[in-house]
Amino acid sequence: MNEQIKREESVHGEHWSTLHGGYFSDPVVAAPLIRKVQEIADKSRVDTIVDLGGGTGSLLSLLRAEGVDPGVSLVNLEASDIQLGAARRAGLSCVRGSVDSFSRHDVGHEEGHFLFMMRSVLHYLGKYGLRRALRNLRTQTRPGEVFVHQTASFRHQQDADCLNELYQIMRTPKWYPTVDFLRECLRDEEWQVLEVLPGLPLSLTNEELMQRYDLSPTEILRISDQLSQKPLLSEAVFKRTDNGFCAFLHYWIYVCTPAISDKSDSGRVSPIVV
Ligand SMILES: C[S@@+](CC[C@H](N)C(=O)[O-])C[C@H]1O[C@@H](n2cnc3c(N)ncnc32)[C@H](O)[C@@H]1O
Repeated sequence: MNEQIKREESVHGEHWSTLHGGYFSDPVVAAPLIRKVQEIADKSRVDTIVDLGGGTGSLLSLLRAEGVDPGVSLVNLEASDIQLGAARRAGLSCVRGSVDSFSRHDVGHEEGHFLFMMRSVLHYLGKYGLRRALRNLRTQTRPGEVFVHQTASFRHQQDADCLNELYQIMRTPKWYPTVDFLRECLRDEEWQVLEVLPGLPLSLTNEELMQRYDLSPTEILRISDQLSQKPLLSEAVFKRTDNGFCAFLHYWIYVCTPAISDKSDSGRVSPIVV
């Protein structure tokens, strides 16, 4: 198992739903993504919805509760056994696998029409693994299928830099792109980005980061001193508090489909923009 996932086992399982103010189990937070997935599923006669890095299965459980067509298979693909255990107890179909190496054959009937969804997973792949995951997913997606993902990403470079510095100090390789950089990576890996919609932000408090990343009170104060001095930093991203700091992850929902390539022109791939 990936070292990063192993390190987080203390917050996995049933405890996960209360983490970060209950962000990952809150139906209000999930609503924009769930609505978008339902809209696409209704329009395109989907056979299988795969939640990539679906954790304990809260998004799929919400979709099921919202009354997604019972003929549609819901599959949670996850790398953590503890998260998979919780998802199975919630009655979901689960597959153990990694987003950067799974194949569609692992998650359903190959000939069916798939919809891939994902929330808050791409940053686990790190700066250098991001493209590999987008490429693998692209090779597993057929023309006309959709990949909808809600990914922490920042409009301004200085904000992404601040969060990346924070995660580096916390000794984790997680990495956050800017919205522009992520769009560029998606384009390079032959995705067409149809829409980018705002999601709700997640607040990261001292207490939770100390538990999740095993930080001492001294480290918290050092982070607070170091990052609050960064120029042009928005309080919507990082702010000092009486006992340390609070940082915020900003989420955007990207609706993507395979770019239609025209390889007749000396092998060059040109996306068709509709
Ligand atoms: C922040 S949690 C989000 C869980 C879920 N997507 C949600 O929004 O409720 C990220 C999840 O991605 C999983 N994960 C991280 N890297 C992964 C990978 N390479 N393949 C599959 N799952 C991965 C983690 O184990 C974790 O459950």
